[in-house]
Amino acid sequence: MPFKKTIIVHGGAWNIPDQLIELSKTGVAEAAQIGMNTLTRGGSALDAVEAAIRSMEDKVYFNAGKGASRNSEGGYELDAMIMNGATLQTGCVAAVRNIFHPITLARKIMEQTDHILIVGEGANKLAEKLGITEQNINNLLTQQEAQLHTQLNKTTPPTVKELFAGDTVGAVALDTNGNIAAGTSTGGLPGKLPGRVGDTPLPGCGAYADNQSGGASATGWGEAIAKVVLSKQACDLMANNTPPQKAAETAINTLTQKTKGWAGLITLNQKSETGTAYNTSRMARALMKEQMHQPQTTI
Ligand code: GLY
Repeated sequence: MPFKKTIIVHGGAWNIPDQLIELSKTGVAEAAQIGMNTLTRGGSALDAVEAAIRSMEDKVYFNAGKGASRNSEGGYELDAMIMNGATLQTGCVAAVRNIFHPITLARKIMEQTDHILIVGEGANKLAEKLGITEQNINNLLTQQEAQLHTQLNKTTPPTVKELFAGDTVGAVALDTNGNIAAGTSTGGLPGKLPGRVGDTPLPGCGAYADNQSGGASATGWGEAIAKVVLSKQACDLMANNTPPQKAAETAINTLTQKTKGWAGLITLNQKSETGTAYNTSRMARALMKEQMHQPQTTI
């Protein structure tokens, strides 16, 4: 029997301000719909995750791609990963500059190299070889987007205790063959040190997928998420038959207790069961299963 096509996406946790609520909901709904359209056309879970994340990387109000936060020197260094739950193949990229769909570069690293993670200058050189053109963010933004971008990327970086607006984006999908894929993309912590890498491109931290357990994608404070290997933790719980909702809640509770950090997590298993948990004030997310007329969106 075919599996039930499903996609769950998040547009980041933290303290999404009131004026961004509707935009964030629209952004995650669109991403879930794009992911489901991909699955409906016969695309794989990997195709759906990549397509959904690309659409969020295009939105200036999410902290990924075009909307990435600046580091302490005013530059952009982007991280992403994608994972195939059928094979455990993984592609990750970190601290890459001027590439506004790092999720696509991560997938190419997974499928076209023998490596898992490529960083910095090496990632930019590889992108060029693979036909991904570098672009300056300022050339990509419309005037309206540029204004919002400036407003969101405050010049004084917040401390990690001061919740900032929005974060990392991510998606987990299940296709009709029962394959699960997960991915995540981010500009990282605003005001981070140049070269700093958080959880997002680290397998098991920013995301994880294994058909036999399920998939997960994280958002939040990378230094805390990595300490508890948040996404793998939820997948291990699902491997022991813990439902995805309980797995997400347990993983976030562990993070809270052990690190006092802030994060959010989405989960999905082969039964098309999903979960969402976060200990921040908000987290934008959307869910779409086959036969639903439109994504279910929450913040
Ligand atoms: N979760 C994104 C980061 O900490 O870089």
